[in-house]
Amino acid sequence: MNVLLIGGGGREHALAWKISQSPKLEKFFAIPGSPGIANFAECVGNISIEDNAALVTFAQEKNIDLVVVGPEAPLVNGLVDALNAAGIKAFGPRKVAANIEGSKIFAKSLMKKYGIPTADFGIFYNPEDARNYIRKKGAPIVIKANGLAAGKGVIVAQTLDEALNAVDEMRNFGDAGNKIIVEDFMDGEEASVLALTDGEKIIPLIAAQDHKRVDDGDKGLNTGGMGAYAPAPIVDEKLAAQIEEKILKPTIAALKAEGIIYRGCLYAGLMIADGVAKVVEFNCRFGDPETQVILPLMESDLLELMNACAEGNLSDAKISWSSDSAVCVIMASGGYPKSYKKNLPIDGVTKAKALGAMIFHAGTKIKDGELVTSGGRVLGVTTTAPTLREAVDKVYKCVEVIHFDGVHYRRDIAARALK
Ligand code: GLY
Repeated sequence: MNVLLIGGGGREHALAWKISQSPKLEKFFAIPGSPGIANFAECVGNISIEDNAALVTFAQEKNIDLVVVGPEAPLVNGLVDALNAAGIKAFGPRKVAANIEGSKIFAKSLMKKYGIPTADFGIFYNPEDARNYIRKKGAPIVIKANGLAAGKGVIVAQTLDEALNAVDEMRNFGDAGNKIIVEDFMDGEEASVLALTDGEKIIPLIAAQDHKRVDDGDKGLNTGGMGAYAPAPIVDEKLAAQIEEKILKPTIAALKAEGIIYRGCLYAGLMIADGVAKVVEFNCRFGDPETQVILPLMESDLLELMNACAEGNLSDAKISWSSDSAVCVIMASGGYPKSYKKNLPIDGVTKAKALGAMIFHAGTKIKDGELVTSGGRVLGVTTTAPTLREAVDKVYKCVEVIHFDGVHYRRDIAARALK
């Protein structure tokens, strides 16, 4: 099969690494790709991932059999619809289904209508109504912008003042901030359960746990994710069955009842308390950095599974998993998630690989023949081992040999599970 991968972050590097192992793979392209993805695929940097027409033309010219869409923006922008209209198969939901991430109002209303467990909420189209609701509810409380806001449109307010200010801050999210969702605060432990689906059958992947805050102990600002591990022991067999029966299957069925066939990866961000899982959010794609720990444990052929999802043909598929654990530590630029410098030389990647690390590039580029930083999250360093403890010890040995000016990373990835 000829495959085109859309995206260039750490998640897409992990997808490229796994897809490249498939005996079914023939030609492999990535737009825009990255220095890491370039080890597996021909990277094409001069086409925007927002330009559906140019992407369709490229796929036609290269006789692409399957397009794998990594990030949410092109999915919400209708790339899969455009590809399918041109007769090209794609892994990822169409625009109307991608709305499960693209519109929180759509997602929350769907959950309410079909009894899928989530926090109570109100939807507001003007700030004063949102403020009145918040005054009645009190704090802590959660304020969310409606649309895609690059992972930044959610404020967990601990006090009434913070909550009222958060309503004003929603203005920073442009269109996404014109419609506001105010949600009850949920306490507990978070987990990410991703699943492959063809719109009928659903296959959950092993559960992972992300670390969203920038500093150890879950302190500091929210980020795109500072590390992850899998499997997450909090999702035991009983809870996994509950998540499948009460959340994943009912969501796919609810979409179907609304006339929407969801194909691709459905990501359920969950809050778990007292053995019960509730949905914090749905995403319409693989998680980042969850993918960097889930795929190294997958023994099955990912390309075959993705193709089955795209064809609506997942019914006989099964996924087999290694019994190992995986840990990913994100090495970030000094200052991230606020402003940071770019173009700083990165040393030690080869040495870390020799120690057994997989290095997933999130924000790097080649400048004058040298690997340099080009983003906030720079590298995801992943290791696997028979136990989580061993994987954690190994990952930090690898992280310590990699260096760039100002680098910072969390030193407590997976600590909660090790307790
Ligand atoms: N890890 C969070 C996300 O992918 O949205």
